[in-house]
Amino acid sequence: MDLDGRTILVTGAAGGIGSAITAACARLGGIVIAVDRVEVPHDPSLTAEVAARVTSYPADISTADGCTDLVTRVQERFDSIDGLVNCAGVMRRGSLLDIGEDDWAASYFVNVDAVMRLCRGILPMMIAAQAGSIVNIASQWGLHPAGGHIAYNSSKAAVVSFSQSLARDYGGEGVRVNAVCPGEILTPMLQQKLDTSNIAEAELAESIPLGRLGRPADVAELTTFLLSDRASFISGAAIEITGAQRVG
Ligand SMILES: NC(=O)c1ccc[n+]([C@@H]2O[C@H](COP(=O)([O-])OP(=O)(O)OC[C@H]3O[C@@H](n4cnc5c(N)ncnc54)[C@H](O)[C@@H]3O)[C@@H](O)[C@H]2O)c1
Repeated sequence: MDLDGRTILVTGAAGGIGSAITAACARLGGIVIAVDRVEVPHDPSLTAEVAARVTSYPADISTADGCTDLVTRVQERFDSIDGLVNCAGVMRRGSLLDIGEDDWAASYFVNVDAVMRLCRGILPMMIAAQAGSIVNIASQWGLHPAGGHIAYNSSKAAVVSFSQSLARDYGGEGVRVNAVCPGEILTPMLQQKLDTSNIAEAELAESIPLGRLGRPADVAELTTFLLSDRASFISGAAIEITGAQRVG
């Protein structure tokens, strides 16, 4: 299996995309450190043998202390970390004059600062092993900003640039870093947007040339590929997974 025996830390592991990535990593033989604000629930789709490879690590990564505490707990338990998937994210909607300082700060604390802090905490273990793969879940809106989401869009643009910078700086240490830029993926985050707007799921699907919304499993497939040795020459990439939808 592609990720046999690899130790992979996944944040946002209780969320729509994060839970699919967690399950996919475990199915491919990975040992998953499943991080979220809440206890990551048992996934009934996994066999007992596969589920045993997933351990829930509740942590609030929106603060420096929360990230430091998480990294310390992980270092105490594991000698090495082979993969890091920064998937936790928050979306605060609004244009600049609609949002408050708190919306801006909340977006950056989780979408950007936590990514930086966890990379900084885990990177030394990867450098020591001269191997590792980091996948940061950004957004297509980080590349092509949609209107009315200035804090989210700009935070995800920061994630793309951060990932590419890290890839350039640490490629020589055997560490690969990529940003994944999903389009419309049907998860609680997107469902909330549909519920609070007048847009129907079918209407949104019509804006996507492939004719459907993305599934969390689509993003998990790409992420596990990037974590695996099959992607050994892919680093510094920002890969869109959008069904050919174009925004911005
Ligand atoms: N759903 C989409 O259409 C879409 C599109 C592009 C990018 N993304 C990105 O994909 C990622 C996952 O999105 P999703 O749709 O699965 O969202 P989701 O809301 O289902 O999951 C996000 C998870 O992050 C966790 N989280 C948030 N703040 C946290 C904190 N401070 N500490 C620990 N965990 C925290 C939440 O508890 C939640 O489980 C996000 O980074 C999001 O921006 C999603």
